[in-house]
Amino acid sequence: MFPKWAGRCEACGEWNTLEEQVLPKALPGGIKEGARRGGSKIEFVGLEGISPPPPRVPTTIAEFDRVLGGGLVPASVVLVGGDPGIGKSTLLLQAGAALGRAGKRVVYISGEESIDQIRMRAARLGLTHSPMDLAAATQLGDILASLAQFPDAALVVIDSIQTMWTEGVDSAPGSVTQVRAAAFELIRAAKTQGFALMLVGHVTKEGNLAGPRVLEHMVDVVLHFEGDRGHQFRILRGVKNRFGATDEIGVFEMTGRGLAEVLNPSALFLAERRGNVSGSAVFAGLEGSRPVLVELQVLLAPNPGGSPRRSVIGWDSGRLSMLLAVLETRCGLKLAMNDVYLNVAGGLRVTEPAADLAVAAALISAASDVPTDPEMVFFGEIGLSGELRQVAQAELRLKEAAKLGFARAASPKRVAGGTARLSVPKTLSLIEIGHLTDLVGVVASGAKPGGKKKKEEGE
Ligand code: TYD
Ligand code: MG
Repeated sequence: MFPKWAGRCEACGEWNTLEEQVLPKALPGGIKEGARRGGSKIEFVGLEGISPPPPRVPTTIAEFDRVLGGGLVPASVVLVGGDPGIGKSTLLLQAGAALGRAGKRVVYISGEESIDQIRMRAARLGLTHSPMDLAAATQLGDILASLAQFPDAALVVIDSIQTMWTEGVDSAPGSVTQVRAAAFELIRAAKTQGFALMLVGHVTKEGNLAGPRVLEHMVDVVLHFEGDRGHQFRILRGVKNRFGATDEIGVFEMTGRGLAEVLNPSALFLAERRGNVSGSAVFAGLEGSRPVLVELQVLLAPNPGGSPRRSVIGWDSGRLSMLLAVLETRCGLKLAMNDVYLNVAGGLRVTEPAADLAVAAALISAASDVPTDPEMVFFGEIGLSGELRQVAQAELRLKEAAKLGFARAASPKRVAGGTARLSVPKTLSLIEIGHLTDLVGVVASGAKPGGKKKKEEGE
């Protein structure tokens, strides 16, 4: 905290990052005075006793509801963050319209776009006839007064919280103080009136939600809408959820007529895969409760002098360095003279260590210039000695692979007790790998593994 104006923050060294905050006046007389004035007693209870689960209002957009944990909770507050142009306004307009069509009252207030712009978008999305109360406004006093007209509102969308301002606070719209004050007032209205509130939040260059961190603490649910503007996939990811799991994702595709739900993400992520290219391997991953197959791609480029580059999109670069080190020391693979590029196809971000085996397979395939078996998926975590470790939900992964027509799955060797009783789909054979050195053999046998090769030779 700084007692007076300064151009530069002494703590982080950044310029123009300090914001004035006016502190509220302290209670005259302090806590003791409050006690003497006779504050009413609060009631304390034990942990036993059951509260019913919160009621849910499904938006009818299944991918959205999944991330929310089953639908909107009345009087809850959802913050949706994402890069500009990623599709936040489109998503919330579509969700609002769907709720409106289901007979709920939906209020949509935009501080960023004019009524005409929103109507144009609605026309493009084919939503012109969905009931909705639409307004363009930024002044919080007006908005709160107007919301009181809608005691039956089920959902209020504010696009975006950074454009809202209140006269009571003496700083510019978008500043920390304004954003916090506006959010506070809106949240209070949501809790008293009982509507679900959705706030659109901007993100900074670093990818964090702009404005005070405290915004994330004030709301019940924080969702990130992610994707690469070069790709049509969009992923809605739960970051915080007081009413459900946070590791669920919703997958959408941005089309000419708005966001379409992707009910089978694996098929989409694998759509552009070409067999018979070295450096590619299919990872049987898991996003929340849902299995997702993605293609991992590795490119090696010789770099004989100097320090080689390691460039990673969609995975952890520290983890890649570790795998490279393990492959060099335990399997004798020489990669130090190469630039290494790793990419998760389709713009998905993979966070699971279970992807280790697939990354290693792609690396080995690239280094040996042998394509991996196109009918094989990979999953498993790799330890520093090159040993393979079990990962969660192997059955789900295998089932998804079988569903998409894969015939083989390379996975960690089953251990007595643990996963020994794994049920494996009939159309899939398991290739159990105990140590990374075994993987080298599996990848080297490549696109034409035993069975298939024989058949082809016989023809
Ligand atoms: P928008 O919802 O305005 O993004 P945000 O609110 O996150 O800034 O979406 C903007 C982008 O989406 C824009 O570049 C155009 C694209 N888009 C489509 O491709 N199809 C559509 O039907 C719509 C409405 C938008
Ligand atoms: Mg917008």
